[in-house]
Parts: sequence; C-alpha cells; structure tokens
Amino acid sequence: MMPEPAPIVRELLAFYLEAGVDCALVEEPVDRLAEADAPPPVTRAAPPPIQAPGFAETARPVAAPAVIRGEAAPAPDVAIATAREAARTAPTLEALRELMQNFDGCALKNTATRLVFADGNPQARIMFVGEAPGRDEDIEGLPFVGRSGKLLDLMIGAIGLNRTTAYIANVIPWRPPGNRTPTPQETQICLPFIQRQIELVNPDVLVTLGNPSTQTLLSTRAGIMRTRGRWFDYDTGQRVIRALPTFHPAYLLRSPSYKRLAWQDLRAIAKALTPA
Ligand code: URA
Repeated sequence: MMPEPAPIVRELLAFYLEAGVDCALVEEPVDRLAEADAPPPVTRAAPPPIQAPGFAETARPVAAPAVIRGEAAPAPDVAIATAREAARTAPTLEALRELMQNFDGCALKNTATRLVFADGNPQARIMFVGEAPGRDEDIEGLPFVGRSGKLLDLMIGAIGLNRTTAYIANVIPWRPPGNRTPTPQETQICLPFIQRQIELVNPDVLVTLGNPSTQTLLSTRAGIMRTRGRWFDYDTGQRVIRALPTFHPAYLLRSPSYKRLAWQDLRAIAKALTPA
C-alpha cells in the first residue's frame, strides 16, 4: 500500500516554516541535489576606489562595481568598502535608491522580493528608522506597513504626524529570510546606505526605533531601556542632528505596558519639533 503523502508534505512544510522559510522564491521546485557540483568560486580582486571628487561631477547613479549580478558574493570587507564609496557619491535620494537597486553586495537581496527603500516625505523634519523589513514590507516594498507599521502610524498620528509629514526607513533595506536578525556583517554592509539617506533627508529630528537601529546608528552598546527617551547627537559630517531612541512598535505590541514610556518619548519628539 502506498503511504499517505499528505502528512509528509505537512511535516516538510512545518519544518520549512520552523527553519524560517515562509515564501517561495520561484514557481517550480529546484532539485539542488541533482545539480552538478559548482566550480570553485573565482577570487575577485578588490575594486579600485570610486573617484568621487564632488557630487556635481558624480550626478549619475553609481553602480556598485565589485558585485556583479550572478557572480559569487564578494568578501564582506570588499562589500562594505564598495557600499561606503558608492553611497557617499549618491547626490540625491533617487540616485541612492537606484544605486542600492543595483548593489549585489548584500546576500539578503537574493532572498528578498524587493528593495524596501523608504516611505514618506523626503522634505520632512522628522525621520524614523527601524531595523529591517518584514514579510508585509517585502511584499509591498514599503517600510512599516504590517502590524507594527499600523501601530507606528497610530503613534506618530498621536503627535499630529503621518506619512506626508514624516519620513520612514530601515537600517537594512532587504528582508532577512524568515525575519531572522540581520548579521553584524549584513548590518555593516547596509550601514553606509542608511547613513547617506539620513544625510540626504537631513531631518531636524531622527528617531531610532528599537535596539538594533539605536545601537547601529548612535554607536552605543547600551540597551533600549537605558537609551530610550535620551537625546543623542547624530553627526552626519555636515550637521549634527538631534536623535531620540524609542521602543520599536513590534516590541510595544508584545509588551503594551511600555506604551506609557513610548508616549513620553512621543511628547518629547513633538516638543522638539515645535518652534520655540
Ligand atoms: N520592522 C522594522 O524594523 N521595519 C519595518 O519596516 C517593519 C517592521
């Protein structure tokens, strides 16, 4: 008698889910075991640094040179150096978006559906930065559109802001598979892009949402319980921006009792935006 296949498929799917696989990358299954052994990866030399004498001269979007689609991923230090050089030459947000679209130095891009660049008003006086897109953001291509995004909308709405008066982005612009925590290397590779984005938006107030965004952008090792509600200086190199860490909305969904403290932070943000 043939075994009943359904439970096996169910078990396999449950295994995939637990392993963090929750979406298919292609329509047809690929039998990786049947593939011929891959040739050894070709070692690539580090790219020459991009000459970026001034933004006026580099007004074209700069494609990341070390990393060409379909080739083996570069060493992380090469990817970080490439991201840094490329990001600092992006003269506008549009150029930065295009450059990130063409950048293949972060492996997260291979599993994400699309780039999640930003949402909101680039002229806004306030910018919120989260950690990384989740499933809903990966589908829509916009940050904070899932459950935690709905709460973020309510939070900023409580101080009279919305997506036409605020700008929203993430440290990592590609969804980590299964929403796993981005690795320190992935964060370092993506960091120059969000730093350049902050520099180009040039808000009066920067709000870091949760621990990873706070620790990465504000160079602190202190946890969110210690950093939240405290003003930091964020130096873009051109200007010092006031930065305030607060709880990530996903954390508030899990621990609603902290909404009281988040409200204090929101009031501080509203006050900072009010002309004296
Ligand atoms: N969490 C984040 O940090 N960013 C998003 O865009 C969504 C959820």
